[in-house]
Amino acid sequence: MSYQMLEDRAKSFLSKEAVAYLAGGAGSESTIDHNRQSLDLVKIHPHMLGGVQEVRMQLKWREHTLPAPFLLAPIGVLELAHPKGDLAVAQAARRSGVPMVISNQASYPMEEIAKHLGDNPRAFQLYYSKSQDLSKSFIRRAEAIDCMALVVTLDTTMLGWRIRDLQQGYSPFLHGKGIAQYYSDPVFTNLPDPEDSLIVKPAVTPTLLSSLLHLNNRIPGGLVQNTLSKKGLRTVRKFTSVFSNPGMNWEDIQRIRDWTKLPVYLKGILRPDDAIKAVASGIDGIIVSNHGGRQIEGAVSSMQALASIIPAVKGKIDVWMDSGVRSGSDMFKCIAMGATGVLIGRPYAYSLAINGADGVEEYIQNLMADFELTMALSGCHTLTQINNDLISHPWTNT
Ligand code: GLV
Repeated sequence: MSYQMLEDRAKSFLSKEAVAYLAGGAGSESTIDHNRQSLDLVKIHPHMLGGVQEVRMQLKWREHTLPAPFLLAPIGVLELAHPKGDLAVAQAARRSGVPMVISNQASYPMEEIAKHLGDNPRAFQLYYSKSQDLSKSFIRRAEAIDCMALVVTLDTTMLGWRIRDLQQGYSPFLHGKGIAQYYSDPVFTNLPDPEDSLIVKPAVTPTLLSSLLHLNNRIPGGLVQNTLSKKGLRTVRKFTSVFSNPGMNWEDIQRIRDWTKLPVYLKGILRPDDAIKAVASGIDGIIVSNHGGRQIEGAVSSMQALASIIPAVKGKIDVWMDSGVRSGSDMFKCIAMGATGVLIGRPYAYSLAINGADGVEEYIQNLMADFELTMALSGCHTLTQINNDLISHPWTNT
């Protein structure tokens, strides 16, 4: 039930590489702490005698009614937490009705994840690739599996300076983990092998060889044929040559906007001026996020950024909040600040590590119960009653 206990318990189920990847952040990891400190600086000023016998916490979001105002954030390489990874998360999402944002770096192809989601709402996270054709193909596939939105992550045009991963010389992607959207994609498969100078060559170690065996077994073609033709290794190398595009800019957002009719959300906005540009570019919403503190050491906390972005956006588009949200009271604070809802990340990955789909489902139930109680005890019957009159914080007028 407590985040700290979840994290501690999960660690006993995880390899040291998995702990580094999931728990780690950029540099000294101060941004992870700062996300928490900022949420703690927001105080709730509850109303008494509101006569709250019943709470309605459902959120109408686009054509769906969510059980509560939160989504499961896109998290890459969930196979590090549990062999069933994204499939188990999809099962938990389906049982609880909470939308899942399928990761661009998932361990299973989005079509397989969609099967486990049944009719449950889902969105797809896009990392804009160096290959426009590949990005378009990911979008077409997301449309075909009935995603309700496309979430374009802006803050990871390259991976941050993550000391824990660097110290171990380990990147899951170079081991063929978290690249299922790529090897299941017809455009990716037909991309020519990149020139030698464009690829990252992982050191050939026993761990790499065992990962490649696993990958050769998974990708289309059959284990023997794939091993003989070094298909796994070639797939990893090709991935490194097209993964995320550091040159991405506002024109690319326009391009993505033109490529699809799906609602487009930009994830990773941290400044009011960027939020205003987002509104002007005709996108449907933003997700205020510093990627769980994984990208820039010393980045502004998501909560402080949210406080400055809400007045700038003036309610013209949805604003969601991500990074550091752990509890029902955190959710309440974000909504009171003006967010439509929140994204939950690490807590569900740890719950997945501890007990698969059941673990994730239990975390979701606990979060909902905690949120419901916080609403009731603060005098709120409905989400619209959760407004900024119910909180204080140090960033007024920023
Ligand atoms: C990728 O999204 C990462 O944070 O590692």
